[in-house]
Amino acid sequence: MSGSLYDLTMDLASPSQAARRGFSPERSAGIAVPPDPGVARLHFGDPCFATPRHIVDAATAAMSAGYTHYPPSYGDPDLRTAIARRASRRAGRPIESSEVLVTAGSTAAIYCALTAVLDPGDEVLLFDPSYSLYATILNQIGARPVYVGMKEALRPDRDRLERAITDRTRLVIINNPANPTGVVFNEAELRAISEIAVAHDLLVLADEIYDELVFTGAFSSCLALAELSDRLLYINGFSKTYAMTGWRLGYLVARPELLHAAHVIHSNSSAGVNWPTQRAGIAALDGPQEPVAEMIAGYHTRREALLEGLAGTPGLRPVLPEGAFYLYVGFRFNPPIRSAEITKLLLKEGVAVRSGTEYGPAGEGYVRISYSATLDDIRDGAERLQRVFTRLS
Ligand SMILES: Cc1ncc(COP(=O)(O)O)c(C=O)c1O
Repeated sequence: MSGSLYDLTMDLASPSQAARRGFSPERSAGIAVPPDPGVARLHFGDPCFATPRHIVDAATAAMSAGYTHYPPSYGDPDLRTAIARRASRRAGRPIESSEVLVTAGSTAAIYCALTAVLDPGDEVLLFDPSYSLYATILNQIGARPVYVGMKEALRPDRDRLERAITDRTRLVIINNPANPTGVVFNEAELRAISEIAVAHDLLVLADEIYDELVFTGAFSSCLALAELSDRLLYINGFSKTYAMTGWRLGYLVARPELLHAAHVIHSNSSAGVNWPTQRAGIAALDGPQEPVAEMIAGYHTRREALLEGLAGTPGLRPVLPEGAFYLYVGFRFNPPIRSAEITKLLLKEGVAVRSGTEYGPAGEGYVRISYSATLDDIRDGAERLQRVFTRLS
């Protein structure tokens, strides 16, 4: 890819060490599959639905009403209140609007939170596999991502987590429901992790951006674990639930001391979030929720279509997709074939997926398939995948 946007080492005049450390070729290439009508696009984490109309209308009304100046840097007060109300419902206890920082997507919330609390050399525990953004930010900071292997069926392993702790460990990351696996951690698993965090005095970053997309069983939020409240960096956003990826709206909830530190990073980098977008966020949270229910039903249909399309594929070992909109599948062939290689081969055969290795070393032998796609792409993609896997078996 010499000469491309993604060739940092060759083409930029002199990128800083931080920029070099923060660059992941696999993550960048995974995101940037060029549009091609012949390719079934099952690689993306972008909702396959449009933002509900009343949310769009709230943004245009806000522009007309003069929300065109600098916004308050912590966020629009009405939006912070609406977010605090939602978080209080999740927590089962009052959360104040003063505990909310509005950011440009949850990406920025994660970035501000991690950058605010970590120093170079600090160690951060994350499950293997984990959403690839975490490691790139940690690398950029100079902190060390420490991947912790999971149990059978990719469930969290309390003992392995505890064994990974050293005197440099500062923080543990929980993403629930999980990208890329689609696993939803249950309350007992979350309690086991939080016990360890309390016992070893660790911070916890809980990214619950897929909390409305749960297809099996109930969802438990880290916000509801009272023992975490003073060490929790809680992340959520509007991208997935309200199909608002293009708007860039997310938030961090944390106790004031942690929030103020994150605000320093936030105000030095963006100074605040596009104000009409924030007014649209209020309409999303306080307006009708039927469009969300319709989208969830749509994901349900797509999940079924993908599972059906892949049923009986030789060599394929899917992880039960409990939540988010991903199916994580293991494969084994003789002779063995690497995840990055099979991802390239599948793209050549007309289906874009992500290599499991983007998400950590344990991703070798896996690919991630997104079912946030058109039903045609899901059916065509499953057929092509089935064809390739049958050939390799
Ligand atoms: C687990 C997880 N967290 C955070 C994000 C970032 O979302 P956004 O910045 O659009 O809010 C994503 C996007 O795919 C994700 O999968």
